[in-house]
Amino acid sequence: MLTIKEKIAEIKKKIDEALANVKFTKSLYEIKMKFMGKGGEVSDLSKSMRDVAPEDRPEVGKQINELRCWADGKFGELDEKLKAEELERKYAEEKIDVTMPVRESAEGAYHPNTLIRNELVSVFSGMGFEVFEGPEIENDYYNFTALNTPKDHPARDMQDTFYLSNDLLLRTQTSAGQIRVMENKKPPIKILSPGKVYRSDDDATHSPMFSQMEGLVVDRGITLCDLKGMLDEFAKKIFGEDVKTRLRPSYFPFTEPSVEVDVSCFECGGKGCRLCKGTGWIEVLGAGMVNRRVLQGCGIDPDEYTGFAFGMGIERIAMLKYGINNMKLLFEGDVRFLKQFKD
Ligand code: DAH
Repeated sequence: MLTIKEKIAEIKKKIDEALANVKFTKSLYEIKMKFMGKGGEVSDLSKSMRDVAPEDRPEVGKQINELRCWADGKFGELDEKLKAEELERKYAEEKIDVTMPVRESAEGAYHPNTLIRNELVSVFSGMGFEVFEGPEIENDYYNFTALNTPKDHPARDMQDTFYLSNDLLLRTQTSAGQIRVMENKKPPIKILSPGKVYRSDDDATHSPMFSQMEGLVVDRGITLCDLKGMLDEFAKKIFGEDVKTRLRPSYFPFTEPSVEVDVSCFECGGKGCRLCKGTGWIEVLGAGMVNRRVLQGCGIDPDEYTGFAFGMGIERIAMLKYGINNMKLLFEGDVRFLKQFKD
């Protein structure tokens, strides 16, 4: 039988051996539990005090206490050392070299439609317009009837419509949004309404889906001069400082009088070139004074208020401004085309 002293010496040796190759605090704690925890060799030693003769107990107790102190010291010391090493390793692993060159990631670009839309919104919000976006699925009333285009009206033929049911359709014009705004808001009204519209139309300059930007101003004393002044400002900002505008008489059921708006050719300065087909002018949008009947239908008194409205095709503006000759390019998503708009 080993004496307590011998047992203690043996445990110390075992602890020393167990700790010799420890690299991580986790293994250290496991070893510590094995010796010092419940059922561990050091705890068992304390239990064996019961078998020691009463006169020897003080001495044996002292020796066991010394063993505990010694072991605590050992574990504690190694714990600190390992923790410091682990921290060092963590710092080394997480170190960032701020002088390393960055890896270039492929960056997208705004679609030309988005570029023009943002530019238009920015120009008009600078003049105090607020953006209102109406629904793409409209009913017959908002898209046509309330815009003074009742069922058998010949002007319906101007826009070939996709019907979803007898009453529901894909809106053919953002003008539909004008009605929604006027129904819900009393003048002064100054809104801009960009969005997608749909028509059964498909060639180099038409697509079944395209985008429009609508504008509407209603207040006391609004005249065609206000429209002209605002259009001059818009044309300068979008096409260039030297660009002029002109109004030509036209027809839209929801405006009276109605006009077609041309800008002087920004390519040739008005002399005549391929872009303006030799005329010096380029048609950019439709506009007019809001028809009395449209105001009335929305509960706005046409004797008290007047207004103007305008609507333009965003793709058309993009094609003119960027010299794009086929509208399909704007919808095909060809990266070789799109990346040219990266600035
Ligand atoms: N909605 C017309 C179209 O799609 C464009 C338009 C013309 C809008 C005159 C207007 C306007 O607001 O006053 O062809």
